[in-house]
Amino acid sequence: MKICLKGGRVVDPAQLLDGQYDLLIEDGRVAAIAPQIAADSARIIDLTGRVVLPGFIDLHVHLREPGFEGKETIASGTAAAAAGGITAVAAMPNTEPPIDTPAMVRFVEEKAAQAGFCRVYPVGTLSRRRGGGEPAELDSLYRAGVRAFSDDGSPVADSRLFRKILRQLAPCPGVVVIAHSEELSLSAGGLLHEGAVSKKLGLPAVPAVAETVAVARDILLAATAGVRLHLAHLSTAGSVELLAWAKGRGFPVTAEVTPHHLFLTDEEILRSGAQAKVNPPLRTAEDCRVLIEALRTGLIDIIATDHAPHQAAEKAAGLETAPCGIAGLETAVPLLLTGLVNRGKLALADLVRAFSCRPAELLGLKGGTLRPGSPADLTVLDLEAAGTIDPKKFYSLARQTPFAGWPYRGRPVMTIVGGRIIMEQGVVHGIER
Ligand code: DOR
Repeated sequence: MKICLKGGRVVDPAQLLDGQYDLLIEDGRVAAIAPQIAADSARIIDLTGRVVLPGFIDLHVHLREPGFEGKETIASGTAAAAAGGITAVAAMPNTEPPIDTPAMVRFVEEKAAQAGFCRVYPVGTLSRRRGGGEPAELDSLYRAGVRAFSDDGSPVADSRLFRKILRQLAPCPGVVVIAHSEELSLSAGGLLHEGAVSKKLGLPAVPAVAETVAVARDILLAATAGVRLHLAHLSTAGSVELLAWAKGRGFPVTAEVTPHHLFLTDEEILRSGAQAKVNPPLRTAEDCRVLIEALRTGLIDIIATDHAPHQAAEKAAGLETAPCGIAGLETAVPLLLTGLVNRGKLALADLVRAFSCRPAELLGLKGGTLRPGSPADLTVLDLEAAGTIDPKKFYSLARQTPFAGWPYRGRPVMTIVGGRIIMEQGVVHGIER
């Protein structure tokens, strides 16, 4: 099956490309990009006025299956990704059972292939059952194809064990350790950021130093072990300073930031209550400013959603008992276009770099570019489409987001994975929402 995407503005920073091109897809791959392609036997799709990008790749997604299918399934989560213009996700292993054996890796891969909505790369645990007591079966996970390892949702608290795991992974080519950097003795019991809002409400809180002290530990342990470290969901200005220091020393460290940490502050709890309860917590306006600036300069390499679905009833249980997490897959692209690109805070090419090229490079994935020969994983945007965030339209089983009702301008209108059109005009083919 040949498809010719005609007349769109193609933005591919990996090829330093930004201009009007036709793009030919053949056998699931990008076959050609040229100002004019005559492809008589192809299905022609007119994309005049649209933007064509290498598909977005989200390195931080909780798909919840197996174990928590009431929150999300692999099918619903990957449909949500496609609806959000995302063509590949890394699936975090805090499932039940956790992804800590090759059998579990295959389970996730097979379910994802059956669903067929986007590519899924399972992340393996660092410690057995995410228990923080002994290393997981790291060798067999690696042999099963796992390249990213994390106990996300919780850190490996015991530094001696963490060091042992890092040293075990260091010789394996292509491995990335994704750190959930949190010092539990400082964060325990905290419901929101420690600051003016927590004082006003008189609630137990998580100080910024609960993150920075752990970021420092994780950088130092990874650097001395010689393993590539990726810092998940950075939320504080102090963490950005430590990242700059580590990069300045030449350590192989990268970092990600989520849309909610870019756009929301601890004040959001006053408006949205438990919908804004997330780990790490939403911080201050100054933290947001520093995170946006670090993303703009490339110091923060990657945008990831930390899509963390929960059931409505769990979130309705009140701030104290509600679980942490925001459903982010279907809001990320409109929010980033509206809050950063349209305001001139981030070039569109830099958004693509942070949300497609760099994630592909970090995990050694084939996407992240539209170079001929690459898999035809693409996202098409309509930069003029305006509306408001409406959780009722989500494909995710989770509808919880503090962004409900936010106006946007710009959204994904087509998602293509391996040459197959998965989403058109917000509708994902082959699944009911
Ligand atoms: O808010 C969060 N939710 N942060 C995490 O680190 C884990 C995640 C989850 O699994 O719900």
